[in-house]
Amino acid sequence: MGTTPILVLGATGSAGRRVAAHLRSLGVPVRPASRHGSTRFDWHDRGTWEPALRGAGRMFLMAPDGIPVDPDFADLAADLGVGQVVLLSSRAIETMGDQRLIEAEDTVKKCGVAWTVLRVDWFDQNFDEGPFRGAVLAGELAVPVGDCRQGFVDLDDVGAVAARVLTEDGHTDRTYELTGPQALSFAEACTVIEDVTRR
Ligand SMILES: NC(=O)c1ccc[n+]([C@@H]2O[C@H](COP(=O)([O-])OP(=O)(O)OC[C@H]3O[C@@H](n4cnc5c(N)ncnc54)[C@H](OP(=O)(O)O)[C@@H]3O)[C@@H](O)[C@H]2O)c1
Repeated sequence: MGTTPILVLGATGSAGRRVAAHLRSLGVPVRPASRHGSTRFDWHDRGTWEPALRGAGRMFLMAPDGIPVDPDFADLAADLGVGQVVLLSSRAIETMGDQRLIEAEDTVKKCGVAWTVLRVDWFDQNFDEGPFRGAVLAGELAVPVGDCRQGFVDLDDVGAVAARVLTEDGHTDRTYELTGPQALSFAEACTVIEDVTRR
């Protein structure tokens, strides 16, 4: 592996933390960035963009919930010679009408940098780190999804895939859909949690 660092955005978060760990396990230099990361990066502070991007060979790009991927940021990455952008997206963007991530994919594909989009199914970690944690601990999870089944996926697997995509040839200009091993309804997922935790 070379000495050029790979920029990992959201590196203190559920996905980015695992991407950074997998890259390090491959012996790759990582530049972890976020508002509280060792490299300070804030989507709302343009002054932090260039220091984070300059000298980075490739980038894992995630935007936290509610924050769009600013096309100016993608253009800056292209100007500064970033060689590949791997975007964390979602399998559900069309069905959920997630305009933010639809536009993020479009931005990344048009910015002139080699790209890979990871369309990930619902994270396992929603239940113990993310938005459902409080409800799970309180003992009742209510989500308006009926019997809809999801291929819940462990973010450790997503981290492994992202690290491979960022370090191997042959993955650019592609969209990969990532799921877990089994489609489960939310009720079935809760039964698994109940069996394991006895809550
Ligand atoms: N939940 C799902 O099932 C699912 C499925 C597919 C795709 N996704 C997508 O995955 C993304 C969420 O990933 P995640 O769960 O890893 O997020 P997360 O755990 O909430 O982490 C968010 C990360 O973003 C950083 N951050 C927050 N505000 C920031 C800002 N203003 N500027 C720069 N960094 C900021 C946080 O670190 P600091 O606090 O240090 O800044 C943290 O590292 C979203 O785009 C979501 O649409 C989610």
